Amino acid sequence: MTTRTEEIADGIFRLSTYVPEIEPPAGFVFNQFLILGEEPLLFHTGPRRMFPLVRDAVSRILPPERLRWISFGHFEADECGAMNEWLAIAPHAQVAHGQTGCSVSLVDMADRPPRELEDGEVIALGGGRRVRYIDTPHTPHGWDAGLIYEESTGTLLCGDLFTQLGDGPALTESDIVGPAIAAEDLFNYSSLNPNIGNIIRSLAALAPRTLALMHGPSFAGDGRAALKALADDYDRRGAIWQRQAAA
Ligand SMILES: [Fe+2]
Ligand SMILES: [Fe+2]
Repeated sequence: MTTRTEEIADGIFRLSTYVPEIEPPAGFVFNQFLILGEEPLLFHTGPRRMFPLVRDAVSRILPPERLRWISFGHFEADECGAMNEWLAIAPHAQVAHGQTGCSVSLVDMADRPPRELEDGEVIALGGGRRVRYIDTPHTPHGWDAGLIYEESTGTLLCGDLFTQLGDGPALTESDIVGPAIAAEDLFNYSSLNPNIGNIIRSLAALAPRTLALMHGPSFAGDGRAALKALADDYDRRGAIWQRQAAA
């Protein structure tokens, strides 16, 4: 396995590892995002067993010990399995996550105390880059789920939202909604709940210019329209469940 690095927005690097053994023949990618600044932030750590690959990929961009912030969507192996390996090699790094994630998992699981972020709280990374933390409980899954939005580039780091199979380009302008619907049909990975469409629709209000997918390419284009279309699909799924429950 190799980890490719590519800049997908000004100062935001996508680190991407393709694993052909997952759902062959398409395979599956795991992406982390490194946001540069005086206080660099890594969004997703990668699984623990992928740590040497991701560390070497970060090393090609900056010295890993310079890392200041470690954040991720929710507490799962691919999102944060290597969290403590990163804390060990980056002495000034701190995990930053929402109140639920910190109190339910991270105060115990992280080797140093995490920074607890309120919904909407901003961390200024320096160099003009600012990341806003947004609570998205149970969306697409995990009570502790949250995302970050980098304001200067209009990049929504959208975690497992829009998950798709395959190893595409680092950046695409092609449709990402159809492949996401297909992957949801295959994996059933989202916690369908009455609010999931509303939460995704509220992200559309950010009108992001880039959507940085954890499992798929990054998307450059009308992020608002893509998020609304994804929200509509979850509403469609919810309506089917309601009809089945009422039958
Ligand atoms: Fe996940
Ligand atoms: Fe994931």
